[in-house]
Amino acid sequence: MASENADHAVWLRGIEKQFPGVIACAGADLRVRPGTIHALLGENGAGKTTMVNVLAGVYRPDAGEVWVNGQRCSFHSPADAIAAGVGMVYQEFRLVPTLTVAENIVLGSAPRLLRSVEIEERVAELSAAYGMVADPTRPVWQLSMGERQRVEILKSLWRNASVLVMDEPTAVLTPGEAAELGAALRAMAEGGRSVIYISHKLDQVVAFCDEATVLRQGKTVATVEDLQEVDLTSLAEMMVGSSEGGYVDRPPAMEAGPEVLSLQGVCALNDRGLPALIDINMTVHAGEIVGIVGVSGNGQKELAEVINGLRRPTEGRVTVKELDITGASPGDLYGMGLAYVPEDRLGVGLAPKMSVVDNAVVRSYRSQRQGIFLSITKCVKFCQSLVERFAVRVGRLNDPIAGLSGGNLQRLLLGRELAEQPSVLVAAQPSRGLDVQGVAAIQGHLVDQRAAGVGVLLISEDLDELLALSDRLLVMFEGRIVGEYGPDVTPRTVLGSAMAGKAPK
Ligand SMILES: Nc1ncnc2c1ncn2[C@@H]1O[C@H](COP(=O)(O)OP(=O)(O)O)[C@@H](O)[C@H]1O
Ligand SMILES: [Mg+2]
Repeated sequence: MASENADHAVWLRGIEKQFPGVIACAGADLRVRPGTIHALLGENGAGKTTMVNVLAGVYRPDAGEVWVNGQRCSFHSPADAIAAGVGMVYQEFRLVPTLTVAENIVLGSAPRLLRSVEIEERVAELSAAYGMVADPTRPVWQLSMGERQRVEILKSLWRNASVLVMDEPTAVLTPGEAAELGAALRAMAEGGRSVIYISHKLDQVVAFCDEATVLRQGKTVATVEDLQEVDLTSLAEMMVGSSEGGYVDRPPAMEAGPEVLSLQGVCALNDRGLPALIDINMTVHAGEIVGIVGVSGNGQKELAEVINGLRRPTEGRVTVKELDITGASPGDLYGMGLAYVPEDRLGVGLAPKMSVVDNAVVRSYRSQRQGIFLSITKCVKFCQSLVERFAVRVGRLNDPIAGLSGGNLQRLLLGRELAEQPSVLVAAQPSRGLDVQGVAAIQGHLVDQRAAGVGVLLISEDLDELLALSDRLLVMFEGRIVGEYGPDVTPRTVLGSAMAGKAPK
């Protein structure tokens, strides 16, 4: 066995890892050859970060094997992984701002008797070897994001990492810095090290990487031996591709009802202050499902947040049934008929430490009053009926929801949002991470809502789900809507091209 594995710098075999209510990795594999840059691809929630955290000793897998440089490893801590040669470059840098570049690099690993001048000299040599300019004497607080990242990489090299892991490294970089990073990674690969590179930016992936593994819903669904042989379109398709089963058929089209949601010239910034939405114009009518297609990170999250009052647009208007709701608070919006199933179910959607009852009533507690007081009896009754209607399997209603499975959490969330007959439902990744019955149940509810005259905006990374449920498809790329397509008349390849930014003009 060991000889077979000796060919690989990294072999993660059948990795399984579960978190409360979510299966993050469901038997995923990743093999990386020495001297290569290996892209780990997949949509948000596919399990990429969990996989590399298993490799970095942050998580212990529930099942599966970790091999590094031909050795079977059992990491109990990140220190074990570092000792085995795994260098993880975190997205949130873990540097001490007041220390110098050299001090940060050697922190925790400096041979005791080295004088600081010598350390600085060695750090300078190391940075020169990979073309990563970094003045060893400067304090880290003076550095740009790109420079800080270089320090993180140098820190791994100082500890002699043979495998470097970068999780979305260019998210914080300017295009120039990203190109420099690409050159530095190539120099490392040529020196015999391996790099695992996680990114949503497919053009960069193709420019920087040699081979790729694609994860979907915690499983490895494709491997690419030579990235130069595939085009962006097929890569995008592999990421969103088809998952097993559960698809509900949409009943035939109905006469489109009146407009219930409309966005006019909406622009918004992302968390880093860069444009995330650019001149978005779209409408959703009563009794229709509009699907948003796209590789994640192209503005979908910001779109859902702007509509639901969690992010302020910098320009433009959002209206629900002709009422201008731009800038209204999430609480007010619910009262105006807007229901929201966010992609972040536990957190934005539900509060994990609160009970089933409390989570069920947070949106509609005004209706559970007796006089001026909240009536516990009414709350419990409301929760019971919701749990029955949406088939949520729960233990005691007063227990925290944290122990519920993903499917039950999602049914509870959807039930709560739909309890007061909204006119618009925005559902982001509503079936992600659920088992087959869970997927079918959620999709069934979406179709029912459509039949009941609700306008549904469905944001999903699952192209099959979008094709099965949507009346119309809008493709998002780099913050814009780049095309509108009919689900029954559009080949997947056309959607794939549009998702990769190659929509016919
Ligand atoms: N520490 C955690 N606790 C609970 N759930 C988690 C944790 N880490 C990841 N998850 C869940 O596991 C799934 C996979 O997440 P992740 O590995 O971060 O995916 P990716 O990096 O591909 O976006 C997601 O549904 C995520 O919400
Ligand atoms: Mg991640």
